[in-house]
Amino acid sequence: MLEFPEDFVWGVSSSAYQIEGAAAEDGRTPSVWDTASARPGFIADGQTGAVACDSYHRVDEDADLIAGLGVSASRFSISWSRVLPDGTAGRVNKAGLDYYDRVVDGLLARGVTPWVTLFHWDYPQVLQDLGGWLHADSPRWFADYAEVVVDRLGDRVRHWMTLNEPQCFIGFGHVKGEHAPGLRLSRREALLVLHRALLGHGLAVRVLRAHADGHRVGWAPVGVTAYPATESAEDIEAARRFMFEQCGDDWTFSNTLYADPVVFGRYPGLDYGDVISDLPEPGPGDLETISTPIDFYGVNIYTGTCVRAGEDGEPVEVPLGPGHPRTAMDWPVTPPALYWGPRLLAERYGLPVYITENGCATTDWVGLDGAVRDPGRVDYLDRHLREVARAIRDGVDIRGYFQWSILDNFEWAFGYTRRFGLVHVDFENGTRTPKDSYRWYRGVVSSGRVGG
Ligand code: FCB
Repeated sequence: MLEFPEDFVWGVSSSAYQIEGAAAEDGRTPSVWDTASARPGFIADGQTGAVACDSYHRVDEDADLIAGLGVSASRFSISWSRVLPDGTAGRVNKAGLDYYDRVVDGLLARGVTPWVTLFHWDYPQVLQDLGGWLHADSPRWFADYAEVVVDRLGDRVRHWMTLNEPQCFIGFGHVKGEHAPGLRLSRREALLVLHRALLGHGLAVRVLRAHADGHRVGWAPVGVTAYPATESAEDIEAARRFMFEQCGDDWTFSNTLYADPVVFGRYPGLDYGDVISDLPEPGPGDLETISTPIDFYGVNIYTGTCVRAGEDGEPVEVPLGPGHPRTAMDWPVTPPALYWGPRLLAERYGLPVYITENGCATTDWVGLDGAVRDPGRVDYLDRHLREVARAIRDGVDIRGYFQWSILDNFEWAFGYTRRFGLVHVDFENGTRTPKDSYRWYRGVVSSGRVGG
């Protein structure tokens, strides 16, 4: 049996566009995801987040579900265009901020601490029309938005994440065209997006810090996670190099290209070769801004790559065995990713780690008897939490775990075809049904133990 520390933060995670709905209500203007959703063929089944889980109208019900788990924290994001309909800080939408007041107060009243992500991909369309993250003012727009949010919520919200998975909104959104805003930029332009997004991050960290003492500020990137085939020093070193020195043929999923500037104030040189030569020349003070100190390293980990040391010590990917388990996303089930990912990140960056997302999609539905049985999710969470506990036992500074997600929700380009929730949502009528995994997770949270 493995025990978690007393003060371990147990949570669940969600994001605005994936759950809120009310896309055109109370003064909210479209985000790039509303626009992309309207494009034929962009989202599975032609779906949109216009209604999603309708969480906008179900604040108390959802807060009850979260509190019913016994978790101490809930991570959610703010819809930028709900708060600032023009994207910039001139016109503040009171109704939008009122909604987040209700969310925050609802959680606090139930003993749950709000953890707020400022940007989880739903960029205001009005700003995208001006060039989005390619615009020279985009870092400032983001910092101004952060200021409006912290001004209103900062007396009650003390835990913040700036950007969610820049690897995804840049890679899928600006390079591969699979996520909003659906662009296929050149590498040079996409790296400018990266630089500006990181500048926005740094400026926002300063805004949040300036607001009040005692706020905890971090971010929630993703990136390649590697785990060693054996625990030999050579394989561990190979996994380390795979995570931090290489990016295969896809730079967009790199760890270091994003995190080195944020934590160390410099872009990596190493094996990135000509990727680096496409980076914009940082302006005076840019890297200082980008590396404004953060308090924690949030990381989203769902799967990892098994790596061993080749003859020459070079990292070699170990192929999965035949029939290796996969989730409904087709992502391989690789629990050691939740041991080695945090361990290697904590070692490199020297910051406390929070798992800001982990979970799996399964193909569950409401049974004839009204129950939702999702043994695959229970097993997935069990295996991954054992690895988290093992890492903590071995001295890795992991302070919390946020399961993705409390509710089945709008899974981006997959629409409603992929269910990640502890709670089943009937998207015809919004009915919520806690799954078996909900009760299982509640047990883990209340006992603080896994593994028997
Ligand atoms: C992550 C996203 C999150 C959700 C999960 C399944 O990449 O941050 O919004 O879609 O994947």
